[in-house]
Amino acid sequence: MPDQIRLLVVEDVPQVAQYIRGLLNSQTTIKLLDVVSDGTRVAGLVQELRPDVIIVDALLQGRLKGMTLVQQLHASGMKVPLIVLTVPQHPVQANPGMGIDAVLSMPFTGYELVMRVQQARAAGALADAAGNARFITVFSPKGGTGKTTICFNLAVAFGQAGLRTVLIDGGLQFGDMRALLKVPIDAPSMLDLPTDRIQESDLADVLWRDPSGIDILLAPPRVELAEMVNVRDLEKTMSLLRRVYEVVIVDTWSYVNDVSLFFLDIADTILEIVTYDSTTIHSTMVMADAFRAIGYPPTKVRYLINRADSTGGFDPEVLNAALGRAPEYSVRSGGNLVVRANNEGIPFVLADPSAEISQDIARTAGELVGRVAAAPARR
Ligand SMILES: Nc1ncnc2c1ncn2[C@@H]1O[C@H](COP(=O)(O)OP(=O)(O)OP(=O)(O)O)[C@@H](O)[C@H]1O
Ligand SMILES: [Mg+2]
Repeated sequence: MPDQIRLLVVEDVPQVAQYIRGLLNSQTTIKLLDVVSDGTRVAGLVQELRPDVIIVDALLQGRLKGMTLVQQLHASGMKVPLIVLTVPQHPVQANPGMGIDAVLSMPFTGYELVMRVQQARAAGALADAAGNARFITVFSPKGGTGKTTICFNLAVAFGQAGLRTVLIDGGLQFGDMRALLKVPIDAPSMLDLPTDRIQESDLADVLWRDPSGIDILLAPPRVELAEMVNVRDLEKTMSLLRRVYEVVIVDTWSYVNDVSLFFLDIADTILEIVTYDSTTIHSTMVMADAFRAIGYPPTKVRYLINRADSTGGFDPEVLNAALGRAPEYSVRSGGNLVVRANNEGIPFVLADPSAEISQDIARTAGELVGRVAAAPARR
């Protein structure tokens, strides 16, 4: 069941653990990943199992006590919605600001348990969307999965939603956006920005204003110029763009070097494109290991399955099992519309807004930025 809620329970009283297992046995909304009794194992398990919700017993004993564990999980920035389990003699207040999204007091019914877990996940998803997705890096460890196409159309969808949006052509050597938009060779690129004391007024001369309403910071016009772009200059440029725009979205190449790592590090959300083919899935797993090693919180990466209706005989469950969850977003194949729009250098979301693929992009854009869409413009 792809949209089951993945639950991790931290409980050292065997009878309570057994009671929870029993309640969850008779339903399918929640998938119980594990019940752990040792609080010191939880941080590692969160990385490994990627739960959607965690329940922690406030009275947990051992080296790491219940409420200390709650504090530590909150401080770690993992942002997994958390429910504290307690007894009436030991009241705990829900306090999302302190990492306690909900409280469940003994004794509770199966219905209450499922409700609380569902509420915690919903609240977590909203909070996540609210603060998270202003800097989005579109990435895939495998070439040709649709990064540039999706990045461009998402950017236009953000623009259509009224968000000031800038797209960074971050695949520096080949500058896919230059090709897609048929930009003249002498159009300015990120190399034309001043390297020291860059200011908002410098942007106007350098950004490419696309008729679709978004601004684009182009890659250098020639392969050999790519290596002149350095991370220190990019840092300054990105922090300026972040202040001036409401959404910064980056198209990348399928290659990990200091520049692509910079774009991954700086992102609030990495939107990783996957497709139903085994080499892409293999590279995605290798990348997931790398992200874990770097220490990215699990919520930083969101998966988008492109050409979701073209499984080519591939069992979607194999992908879900590899990722440890179903991809958060999906975009169907757009066939001729995509090819035509790309060849003309226009976004398909404007060429045919009612097409299924355009609606997939619009929905993904809405979910990615969530409540940010309602935030006041920054200028
Ligand atoms: N959902 C889709 N439906 C139909 N065609 C698609 C879809 N997504 C991508 N394509 C097509 O697949 C091809 C590759 O897409 P794109 O160039 O966006 O991939 P990429 O990941 O940016 O590639 P690269 O790794 O070379 O940068 C393009 O011809 C594009 O039109
Ligand atoms: Mg590309």
